[in-house]
Amino acid sequence: MTIVSKRGWELPESAATPEDKFLRRRELVKALAAGPILAASGIGFAGTAWATGGLYPAKRNPRYRLGRPVTDEKIVTTYNNFYEFGSHKQIWKAAQKLKTRPWTVTVDGMVEKPFTVDADALIRKLPLEERLYRHRCVEAWSIAVPWSGFALEALVAMARPSAGAKYLEMRGFHDASVASGQRQVWYPWPYLEGLTIEEATNELAFIATGAYGKEIAKQNGAPLRLAVPWKYGFKSIKSITRFTFTDKRPVSFWEEIAGQEYGFWANVNPEVDHPRWSQATERQLGTGQRVPTLLYNGYAEQVAHLYKDMKGEALFK
Ligand code: MTE
Repeated sequence: MTIVSKRGWELPESAATPEDKFLRRRELVKALAAGPILAASGIGFAGTAWATGGLYPAKRNPRYRLGRPVTDEKIVTTYNNFYEFGSHKQIWKAAQKLKTRPWTVTVDGMVEKPFTVDADALIRKLPLEERLYRHRCVEAWSIAVPWSGFALEALVAMARPSAGAKYLEMRGFHDASVASGQRQVWYPWPYLEGLTIEEATNELAFIATGAYGKEIAKQNGAPLRLAVPWKYGFKSIKSITRFTFTDKRPVSFWEEIAGQEYGFWANVNPEVDHPRWSQATERQLGTGQRVPTLLYNGYAEQVAHLYKDMKGEALFK
């Protein structure tokens, strides 16, 4: 059994902002002191006041604007990529089999002290906000979603990675008894993705725990799903169970399957085509419009500096 380490609960000041969130954290610490066995067991707080009810809708951060309409919730929750449940778009019903409570998340690798925490407790502890983000799939369709969640930077701060940690590797779950796609043993399960530490601490890198003003749907990656909107959608790993800090560049799920088509960086660029199709335009789900794709999916202002000295890297596949 994994133990929730005390260190994991100590948030650096930089990660703690609004007072109401701070008070919530204090309440949690008090409750943990009162019930250490429950907390340490990783049983979670499902069905109790500690589950995430009451957290949504989170307050919208007005800094993130779309320049296009929000996609209808019905579309975002019924047209999905989630290979654990099948290699087609209609997986939403099958994904309901995923049991997201209890759900434990491990933070390990090159950190001061690894820890395992119940996902609900983690979500309650971090400052939640709503952000409107565009999402551009490598298959050339796009959506725009009101995610709720927390900045990945806050989780990195909590983990206290050592100076030698260069990458953050994220892993999904592996349970072929609920996810029929995982019976396809030729795929390198679990789904795996990675970012550099600079990317993971960029202001845009976000962990979505909610969408459309409520808890995130299973088919969209409950309970924790990455949203890195300047990259092709396959980087935005769903249903994360583990965050590992490492000095080795992770080989992500799709890179391992077809590295010539899907690279580590996967930044959106209309001028670099996929080997089998153009990336110049995208089909907006919901509006039916085909529109020009933007460099970094329109987020160059926030992220272009991350890559300016990386000559010779395949930044756009
Ligand atoms: N995460 C996991 N675990 N498994 C997946 O198959 N597909 C990726 C990404 N994250 C995927 C995943 C791809 S290709 C895309 S485009 C987005 O999830 C789709 O997210 P959505 O279904 O919520 O729109």
